[in-house]
Amino acid sequence: MSIKSLLDQRMLSAMAATNIPEDCPANIAVSTRAGFGDFQANGAMAAAKRLKTNPRELAQKILENLDLSGIADNVDIAGPGFINIHLAPEFLSEQLQLLSVANKLGTNTPTPQTIVVDYSSPNLAKEMHVGHLRSTIIGDAVARTLEYLGHNIIRQNHMGDWGTQFGMLIAELEEQLGEGEQAELALGDLEIFYQQSKKHFDDNPDFADKARNYVVKLQSGDAHCRTLWQQFIDISVAHSEAIYRDLNVTLTHTDIRPESAYNDDLANVLSDLQQQKLAVEDQGAQVVFLKELADKKGNPSPVIVQKSGGGYLYATTDLASLRYRSGTLKANRILYFIDARQSLHMKQVFTLAKKAGFVTDNICLEHHPFGTMMGKDGKPFKTRSGGTVKLTDLLQEAVERAGTLVKEKNPASTSGEIAEIGRKVGIGAVKYADLSKTRTNDYIFDWETMLSFEGNTAPYLQYAYTRIRSIFRKAGIEPSGIIQNISIAEQQEKALALKLLQFGEVVQQVADDAYPHVLCNYLYELASAYMVFYEHCPILKDGIPPQVRDSRLAICQLTSLVMAQGLDLLGIEVMEQM
Ligand code: ARG
Repeated sequence: MSIKSLLDQRMLSAMAATNIPEDCPANIAVSTRAGFGDFQANGAMAAAKRLKTNPRELAQKILENLDLSGIADNVDIAGPGFINIHLAPEFLSEQLQLLSVANKLGTNTPTPQTIVVDYSSPNLAKEMHVGHLRSTIIGDAVARTLEYLGHNIIRQNHMGDWGTQFGMLIAELEEQLGEGEQAELALGDLEIFYQQSKKHFDDNPDFADKARNYVVKLQSGDAHCRTLWQQFIDISVAHSEAIYRDLNVTLTHTDIRPESAYNDDLANVLSDLQQQKLAVEDQGAQVVFLKELADKKGNPSPVIVQKSGGGYLYATTDLASLRYRSGTLKANRILYFIDARQSLHMKQVFTLAKKAGFVTDNICLEHHPFGTMMGKDGKPFKTRSGGTVKLTDLLQEAVERAGTLVKEKNPASTSGEIAEIGRKVGIGAVKYADLSKTRTNDYIFDWETMLSFEGNTAPYLQYAYTRIRSIFRKAGIEPSGIIQNISIAEQQEKALALKLLQFGEVVQQVADDAYPHVLCNYLYELASAYMVFYEHCPILKDGIPPQVRDSRLAICQLTSLVMAQGLDLLGIEVMEQM
């Protein structure tokens, strides 16, 4: 149990013993001002208002009923009735000793749920671009966090591998192969290939006819078109998987369940909706009108599930996938990491899936939207010539820039070491810059800030980690098994201990709300608390008694474990030296 929950429990029973109504909260919070204890209970004021009595006097009565023996060494009242709790150093020492890797660093083990996480999900017609970055790294961080807590995580990469563009693309591929080109070479740069086929389509009416014809053939299962399509898809998927490897993202080949996987079920989705009289004909199309999502004037929100030509839509596929995730995968919870611009689409699909009984009643459907990645000019991030930035180019630049910085700092390192550290720092910086911002906002992509060794950045945290590790190298000690006999004496030790003990709570918050920046902020505060501790509490200096030295080394070791684990949940690698 977290210290906060423990204090909450104790405070509530003291309040009950003071005859305060049960629904009055204790309002425990970490104290933010020095001299006001480590935690504050602010519930007395609201309770006094309810009971129409003096808050300070009520706080005094609560204190008389409050048992914090073994937990706090001083409790006092401040201002109109704040209760300040000063934790006992022995209590903190004990609690720290309980934080071990075996105890998962203080996180609670929840009842395991089956949780589907839909993320990355790029369209395969084109190369992955920066627009896919946020979904991929935010989704991965949350999936890792939920998995760490012991949930059964099913990743679903809902790749867009279907739709009208593929007629044009396979018609183009067929022509280029006819000219003796190899598929791998023709599709070496999907962006260029897409432009070539688009130009061909616009300029040449015969080619355009063929492309349209190929869409129909593909959908009816024509073998020749299918083979071309499969060649295209395989190469495009390989492009994405190379990015996942570079990005240190946990998505694998088996997590791919693309749009085409639901193809055979789309007619069933439609007929089910028709039978339930949910889908009706409207100008030749099949449409569901949702009054649940009506606009201000009362017009229901239309969801087209079949076009007048017979084609199915993005929403139809999402309905089929929801039915699969609930019925076959037995999900308790489904998380979608998709751009905020798709909010209405997600609302429609969730509402309709529930209404049509495609998902169980108690399932939790969550769209976790995010804003746009902007350039320094405040406009959506683009290349200098105004084109979309390919992810592969962006990541390469990150690694190169980080490599240059690392080399400046360590002129003596070998080129192999520099390459390895540069890779971890560069990729870490790109991921952290994104994860550390409140995801619902737009954010500005800026190389200088994200690669800085100061401030709330990946390099700063990675550097803090290497500083801790270097102490053990200097001391010539293997850090395993030294987390015992911790004794907290100095204020800086206490502050660091309190931070370490918050890890479980923070991880739980990310698991509940899917906002990874909460974990980033925590790690930054932890690293800062460590730096202050390191300044004030010498460890290996002559004259430091062995017990003090060992206790401080144990605190260092715990800090490095929490730091590495926290960064790992974000998908960011650490290193021994930098
Ligand atoms: N392929 C879509 C896009 O690039 C994202 C798919 C998200 N997942 C989903 N189940 N709709 O916009």
